[in-house]
Amino acid sequence: MKNLPILVLLCVAACSAYPLEQTAKNKDTSMDLVQQYLENYYNLAKDAKQFVRRKDSSPVVKKIQEMQKFLGLEVTGKLDSNTLEMMRKPRCGVPDVGQFTTFPGSPKWRKTHLTYRIVNYTLDLPRDAVDAAIEKALKVWEEVTPLTFSRNNEGEADIMISFAVREHGDFIPFDGPGKVLAHAYAPGPGLNGDAHFDDDEQWTEDKRGTNLFLVAGHEIGHSLGLFHSTNPEALMYPVYNPLTDLARFHLSQDDVNGIQALYGPPPASPKEPAVPTEPTPAAPETPDMCGPDLSFDAVSTLRGEMLFFKGRHFWRKSHGTVEAGFYLISSFWPSLPSGVDAALEVTSKDTVFVFKGNQFWAIRGNEIQAGYPRAIHTLGFPPTISKIDAAIYDKKKKKTYFFVKDKYWSFDEKRQSLEPEFPRQIADDFPGVGPTVDAVFEAFGFFYFFNGSSQFEYDPNAKKVTRILKSNSWFNC
Ligand SMILES: *[C@@H]1O[C@H](CO)[C@@H](O)[C@H](O)[C@H]1NC(C)=O
Ligand SMILES: *[C@@H]1O[C@H](CO)[C@@H](O)[C@H](O)[C@H]1NC(C)=O
Ligand SMILES: [Zn+2]
Ligand SMILES: [Zn+2]
Repeated sequence: MKNLPILVLLCVAACSAYPLEQTAKNKDTSMDLVQQYLENYYNLAKDAKQFVRRKDSSPVVKKIQEMQKFLGLEVTGKLDSNTLEMMRKPRCGVPDVGQFTTFPGSPKWRKTHLTYRIVNYTLDLPRDAVDAAIEKALKVWEEVTPLTFSRNNEGEADIMISFAVREHGDFIPFDGPGKVLAHAYAPGPGLNGDAHFDDDEQWTEDKRGTNLFLVAGHEIGHSLGLFHSTNPEALMYPVYNPLTDLARFHLSQDDVNGIQALYGPPPASPKEPAVPTEPTPAAPETPDMCGPDLSFDAVSTLRGEMLFFKGRHFWRKSHGTVEAGFYLISSFWPSLPSGVDAALEVTSKDTVFVFKGNQFWAIRGNEIQAGYPRAIHTLGFPPTISKIDAAIYDKKKKKTYFFVKDKYWSFDEKRQSLEPEFPRQIADDFPGVGPTVDAVFEAFGFFYFFNGSSQFEYDPNAKKVTRILKSNSWFNC
């Protein structure tokens, strides 16, 4: 009975706006499915109150759009047949948006040799068939990274593999046949790194039931620190693809780029002659968080945490934790570009603004706000300005400062307009900083300006630089 009001209100928000050609009874089960799906995979809050808001701004509709975008469907915000069909497909139990890890911090192993253990077996297949499927799945990742795996037959291993039904000890119960096939935890101790397979599926070596190798390959991707991909060709796409050509299975470039961003390519890989038909983009280098030359594209706070943007990735650090987590930008905000120019949090609006080129996006938590990207010229910048280098919100003065080359502008957040006496020289108003800045953010009342691998701690009251630090001084190096 406890669920009833939620379902009814959800129907007010979603069904009446977008009627389904279904019987009333079917509608209820559809709404249950939708609610569950968005809660499980798209971070929809379990809070009933949200459903009584206006239809067009309903969080459910936004989440439907987010799901459609992630999975490559037409973004209608409506529960059309393609969307419902997608929601019924068998898939991985790990969320597409948000995290699935018990251990906050970096989802990456700090070693290249990992152990695994097959804790127990499904009765669907002979044991050696299960062993072979798991080995093959590990090999897929071994081939494109410096990682190696060895098997333990007892005790703890980094990656503990088990088959279980329903509730199985981690508070994320499986759901019987179909829908969720398996789930796995990001790198770390204990439960982290482990992969669980729903033994209510019919596990097979071929394509008659659910292919164990394919699902294991995907789950081990999570065990190694990968999130879901929006690319339907990728092994890390969240939905099971029964059409995969098993005989000619290969990782997509997206999978290879993802895993090599975490661990790099295999050591001394023999230079194979390039296949001329399909030029593959070079895997982007993994930035070394402790490297002496590390610089950032942009730095911002987000609800008390710090975000350090670099290329396709960002580090996320909360004040309480020692380790910074390392993530793909696209795994949190699928529509944000990589290589952003500037980012700032306007705490009074609980919003992070991210800039790239002549556009900017507004983010609240995991969600990109509707109506973005917008052009930076809508803020009042002259047409000669084609990008912002860095930006910071000054809480005390309720002003946002935008840094462009050796100048800066002040934006009055109350009046929502650029102030008239600007631009001014950075060097005149922030002595000791510059001449240009890559990134800036505020912490503990100081402004931290980044210039290449150097960081300037600036006291806005005393108007002077108090310390010069390495840019990566926030990391535990
Ligand atoms: C396999 O091991 C897991 C984890 O210890 C447990 O939850 C599950 O019930 C076991 N499955 C079987 C079939 O014994
Ligand atoms: C900032 O970096 C530029 C380019 O690397 C350099 O020329 C400049 O001297 C640096 N500024 C300061 C204050 O160190
Ligand atoms: Zn998954
Ligand atoms: Zn589990």
